[in-house]
Amino acid sequence: MNTRRDFLKQAGIATTALSLPWSVVANAQSLLPRRAIPGTDETLPVIGLGTGGVFFEGDVEASRVLMEILREHGGSYMDCLYGARNVVAQVVGDLNAQDDFFIGSYVMGDTDEKSRADIAQLLELSGKDSLDLIHAWPEFAVPNWDLMRRWKDDGLARYIGVSRHVTSAYEDIMNLMATDTVDIIQVNYSALETDAADRVLPMAMDKGIAVNINRPFLNGEYFSLVKGHELPEWAADFDCESWAQFSLKYILSHPAVNCAITETSSPKHAVDNIGGGLGRMPDESERKRIRAHLEGLSG
Ligand SMILES: NC(=O)c1ccc[n+]([C@@H]2O[C@H](COP(=O)([O-])OP(=O)(O)OC[C@H]3O[C@@H](n4cnc5c(N)ncnc54)[C@H](OP(=O)(O)O)[C@@H]3O)[C@@H](O)[C@H]2O)c1
Repeated sequence: MNTRRDFLKQAGIATTALSLPWSVVANAQSLLPRRAIPGTDETLPVIGLGTGGVFFEGDVEASRVLMEILREHGGSYMDCLYGARNVVAQVVGDLNAQDDFFIGSYVMGDTDEKSRADIAQLLELSGKDSLDLIHAWPEFAVPNWDLMRRWKDDGLARYIGVSRHVTSAYEDIMNLMATDTVDIIQVNYSALETDAADRVLPMAMDKGIAVNINRPFLNGEYFSLVKGHELPEWAADFDCESWAQFSLKYILSHPAVNCAITETSSPKHAVDNIGGGLGRMPDESERKRIRAHLEGLSG
């Protein structure tokens, strides 16, 4: 009898695929689907990687492993914060993989001069001609939007955007979106943090602005909530085999969403999270069921 491992070997699927949902692997669907950045002919894979522990610690080798896993499954989006940006840029440069990774960096200088110097350093390390995305928290983006637009005009970044993980930032984010000059936003959204679905996500769809999602696991709190509970059997109906995928599939089945940014220091978790982007996504009634189920667990 053919085992799962035999199947993977015959199909030439890498060993990391061993932890992907079996129904998905059996259909040889191990590459992440991609969604269009509105108004362009460019697409982004639906799962991205935030820069957690190992990146912040400057562990280039461990970071490279995580980035290779993402790339192996067709992923490319790296959300790069603080010093972790240099680690990501270095790995991209070392792998000579400028076209394989989409670097979403944050503004880190507080002046035009410092920011340009910071961007120049990332370009030098990564070997890229321009960053793919520069975004900023509203605190910087609102007063400095003209500056960010100039960086884009000068070719320092292909896209510009605004990013935050709290509801209190939505008003500023929407005011910037109203200028029709924002390419990509990043906000928090999941079955247990649904505020963005009220106005921000519909407005992004209406304006043709790409949306990346942060806090898919409430920065880890989600796993404390589901710990000790069995995944409901009906999750298999939408190719879901883990609690991580349960959350990711809820997020990705919102029509405004391009990509969910997952943070992990664990290669095993990185593969699990990629599974959240594969296979069938929940429909509207399944989405309601996911939400009710999680609300039930959170009391
Ligand atoms: N722009 C902003 O203002 C902003 C704010 C917050 C976040 N972000 C971005 O969004 C990214 C993600 O959001 P987040 O930082 O809130 O983290 P998150 O992805 O919601 O949660 C990360 C936590 O979940 C755990 N985890 C991940 N995958 C798992 C899995 N499959 N099974 C079990 N545990 C798992 C991780 O632990 P392990 O390391 O053990 O896997 C870590 O403790 C960040 O990295 C950042 O890029 C942006």
